[in-house]
Amino acid sequence: MITEAVFLDRNENNYGPAPACYEVLRSAGIDALSRYSKDSLRGVKSLLTERLARDFGIPEPRIHLGYGSEDILKQAVQCYLRPGEALLIPSHSWWYYKSIAAERNGRTFEYAMVPGEDAFHYDVEGLLRLARDERPRLVLISSPNNPTGNSLGNGDLGRVIRELKDTIIILDQAYWGFGGAGAAPLRDLIEEHPRLIILRTFSKYYALAGIRVGFAFLGAGLDELVRAGSRYLGYSRVSERIALAALDSGDYYEEIGRRMIADKETIRLAFNRIPGFKVYRSDANFLLADVPPAHKGALQAELDGSGLFIKFFKNEAFLDNSVRITLGTREQNQRLIEAVTSFARARGLL
Ligand SMILES: Cc1ncc(COP(=O)(O)O)c(C=O)c1O
Repeated sequence: MITEAVFLDRNENNYGPAPACYEVLRSAGIDALSRYSKDSLRGVKSLLTERLARDFGIPEPRIHLGYGSEDILKQAVQCYLRPGEALLIPSHSWWYYKSIAAERNGRTFEYAMVPGEDAFHYDVEGLLRLARDERPRLVLISSPNNPTGNSLGNGDLGRVIRELKDTIIILDQAYWGFGGAGAAPLRDLIEEHPRLIILRTFSKYYALAGIRVGFAFLGAGLDELVRAGSRYLGYSRVSERIALAALDSGDYYEEIGRRMIADKETIRLAFNRIPGFKVYRSDANFLLADVPPAHKGALQAELDGSGLFIKFFKNEAFLDNSVRITLGTREQNQRLIEAVTSFARARGLL
């Protein structure tokens, strides 16, 4: 029997986007496909920045668009990090942060992400201490963080923002929307810190990684980035219309979000029953799990062989015995739980 491959390794949203997004593609005509946008004639970057400005109560000029939030992240680092300058990142984080800093010959310093009883947390004291010692040009905070899944609470975030007034702070919220405490109002944050960049994306919550639309809310002191990112001929007219359709489909996404929060708990409890496995709580659309070192290779072979792909970390000091599981649909999650449980039984772990 051939079973369909299931990709739970790249933090995509396996439910796919709202029906209204497909409708935009079906009905796209010559205007969206063959003509440049005329939105700049109205003094805005795009229909999408105009809409986000309204939704978030943030002036349109302070909203930045990019080819995914990856693009904005890269623009910000290229704009502000000069060779030899320091960038602070979390110890367990998206490998790409280091790679972007290396392109600029920047020096990367890591502040600790600390594993707790059932979740990771930020070492805020350690972060601030490192910032005092290394005087970084940029500090990167990822909340919820990939791959640990934890968020930085509003109180701690406020403290970091107040204490690092002269530093450019990038707050990566790519995994916003899958649980955790509500974020502080974004408008207040960028008012408080003129050099704060809050990154968001349509890739995760809105299940639109393929259209490559990311956006950012910028403090008032980031003119260089605004200039570097401006686009004379506008943005993808098809992608921005799909993104708008997603914003109009709140009920669809809220329902999936609720389901995912429940599903994370189902997976966590199922795996935590197996001796040697430990799954951490997560505010994102994935879970980080420690697996027994003696069984890791065999587990990967077993799952790969059955077309179930999760992320096995390699060559990352802290994560050598960890896997990251992106949430799938309910059926996909069930397949994974059954495969791991029967692996554990076959090896005498259960
Ligand atoms: C922490 C983090 N930030 C940002 C991104 C970039 O996502 P995108 O460029 O699709 O917006 C990713 C992608 O996986 C990520 O893991």
